[in-house]
Amino acid sequence: MIAFRKYYVVTGLIVITIFSLLSLENCSQNEKAPADGSEQRRFAGSEACIRCHRDIYEQHLRSFHHVTSAPANGQTLKGDFDSANKFYYNDHLFIAAEKKQGGFYQTAYVNDVPKLSRPFNIVVGSGKRGQTSIYWFQNYLFELPLTYFTETNEWTASPGYSRKADFNRSITSRCLECHSTYFQEITDKDAKADEFSKTNFILGVECEKCHGPAVEHIAFHDQHPGEKIGHAIFNPAKASREQSLDLCRLCHGGRLSKTKPSFSFQPGDRLFDFFRQDTGKPISEMDVHGNQYGMLAASKCFKNSGMTCISCHDGHKNESMQTVQFYVKCETCHNSAAHNTCKLASTVRQDFLRINCINCHMPVEASKAIMVLRKNESIPTSAHMRSHYISVYKDISKRILSEKNSGL
Ligand code: HEC
Ligand code: HEC
Ligand code: HEC
Ligand code: HEC
Ligand code: HEC
Ligand code: HEC
Ligand code: HEC
Repeated sequence: MIAFRKYYVVTGLIVITIFSLLSLENCSQNEKAPADGSEQRRFAGSEACIRCHRDIYEQHLRSFHHVTSAPANGQTLKGDFDSANKFYYNDHLFIAAEKKQGGFYQTAYVNDVPKLSRPFNIVVGSGKRGQTSIYWFQNYLFELPLTYFTETNEWTASPGYSRKADFNRSITSRCLECHSTYFQEITDKDAKADEFSKTNFILGVECEKCHGPAVEHIAFHDQHPGEKIGHAIFNPAKASREQSLDLCRLCHGGRLSKTKPSFSFQPGDRLFDFFRQDTGKPISEMDVHGNQYGMLAASKCFKNSGMTCISCHDGHKNESMQTVQFYVKCETCHNSAAHNTCKLASTVRQDFLRINCINCHMPVEASKAIMVLRKNESIPTSAHMRSHYISVYKDISKRILSEKNSGL
């Protein structure tokens, strides 16, 4: 037991040392040309849309896309900074989330002596399930070792961090490609990790991530105020099924290995011009986290219809807590006119079927990919997500039906 503890302390110290070594290298701060040819890409910013699309803009501010990355501050940070602010890796090493000198920090303490402190600079994740934070060091971004985990309302070890108080995990451009609108990458050829411009980035998944850079669109409509048809802008609802799906799949399609620099893909593009075509895993190996596309695409609904993500989702609204209402979307295809209603329709009341439609056919499952290590636990705890594999789940259905009967 004691031997284990020592091992943990030593690991913590080693990690901190490695960090300091890396800090001495790569001191060049010169900004270089972006790798993805994006100098020509001109973003207007979401505020520029307010003038002509105020309602959508206001909906978007309440969406999870908008807050999925933001500057770290008193408004955006989740988690306790006062009393329940420590996470113990072992008896000798803990990390504390601290507010000091007007800023927010994570500090590693070894035998109660502060050893290393790094700021919260940017939050990643809305906090619906959790929030991980990252910090700048020169042109690099690194992940902080503690993550706020919403299900249990506490600080935990960041996903994938088991026994190491690691301040040295670099953030890749692919992480930012999914959680922000744009980061200018300025990686040096021999750099050990991706480097970013500290001035040229846009946090949040903003309007132009899904519609493409809009400077030209705005200029056109300023010059043609009577024009009722949108010009020089991508609308997923009017694109092909593949184009519409590829946009969502860029971030909701699981792990993809890129063949072009991150941030090259633009709305309307085909995904596999930028990523290696994946071989397709069996459904049992897909995770409910981050791969809504893969799971949906394995469903009969998807295979036998022209379904896209926006058959059920609105591009702008925050639909959280409206789970029950989704049955309306199912009934656009599954209705008595089409003769493909639920097999239970003859034996179970319609209102009961509607209220539980999603719970029976798209149940919530534990993720194997988003798992965090909680205090005093050796096995990580999962976040829970809705399965997009629409199917018949016999056991879950039985349970839901029996709950109904026991309640009567
Ligand atoms: C000067 C006014 C103006 C501004 C500013 C503006 N738009 Fe538009 N936009 C229009 C008009 C007019 C249309 C056509 C009518 C409609 O669909 O609302 C349109 C349509 C659209 C469409 C639908 C296109 C289609 O083919 O259906 C999208 C998407 C869009 N705009 C996105 C944006 C975004 C994103 C911004 C901000 C970055 C923006 N617009 C700023 C005037 C503007
Ligand atoms: C640039 C990456 C990106 C693109 C493109 C994208 N999303 Fe997302 N989406 C995210 C991220 C990241 C989250 C998680 C936000 C959070 O809670 O931090 C998310 C969250 C969501 C949610 C969950 C909201 C909730 O209630 O938890 C839905 C639904 C969703 N996206 C649908 C879509 C659809 C449909 C498309 C295509 C039209 C799309 N997304 C395109 C990155 C993206
Ligand atoms: C996650 C991707 C995503 C983001 C972010 C996003 N949109 Fe959209 N937008 C869509 C999708 C999908 C559609 C088509 C289906 C629909 O209307 O939901 C759409 C449709 C539109 C339309 C045309 C249809 C309509 O409802 O008038 C406009 C205009 C528009 N968006 C503007 C904006 C503006 C302005 C913002 C930012 C404030 C924004 N969008 C942010 C995905 C997105
Ligand atoms: C391929 C795209 C992709 C990459 C890469 C990615 N994420 Fe995510 N992430 C998502 C999507 C989509 C969601 C929300 C839906 C889900 O979990 O299925 C999400 C959810 C999250 C959440 C939980 C948000 C919430 O409150 O629900 C956190 C925290 C997070 N990601 C952090 C990160 C960090 C940090 C990285 C990089 C080190 C990263 N993600 C890499 C797509 C991605
Ligand atoms: C765009 C149309 C469409 C929508 C929307 C849709 N489905 Fe389907 N669904 C289908 C089609 C087509 C099939 C295949 C029917 C067949 O093979 O005979 C199907 C099959 C199914 C099956 C049988 C699956 C299996 O593996 O045997 C279930 C269960 C189902 N849908 C439930 C739902 C639920 C629940 C929703 C809403 C969350 C939904 N569907 C939304 C078109 C749709
Ligand atoms: C047949 C309807 C349907 C389709 C099609 C669909 N979704 Fe969903 N999605 C749902 C329902 C229902 C929920 C649960 C909503 C809730 O509980 O708030 C959901 C939730 C989500 C969430 C939040 C995850 C969670 O656990 O809360 C994300 C992210 C998401 N969808 C993305 C997508 C993407 C990306 C696509 C396209 C690949 C897609 N969805 C297609 C019905 C659908
Ligand atoms: C209590 C759980 C439960 C609820 C609620 C429920 N279903 Fe079902 N559904 C089932 C089960 C179980 C089956 C398979 C029955 C069988 O094969 O005998 C089924 C079968 C189906 C099928 C046919 C699949 C096939 O094999 O052809 C469709 C389509 C379907 N459901 C759609 C829906 C829709 C849409 C809703 C909501 C409006 C809904 N169901 C509500 C449990 C449920």
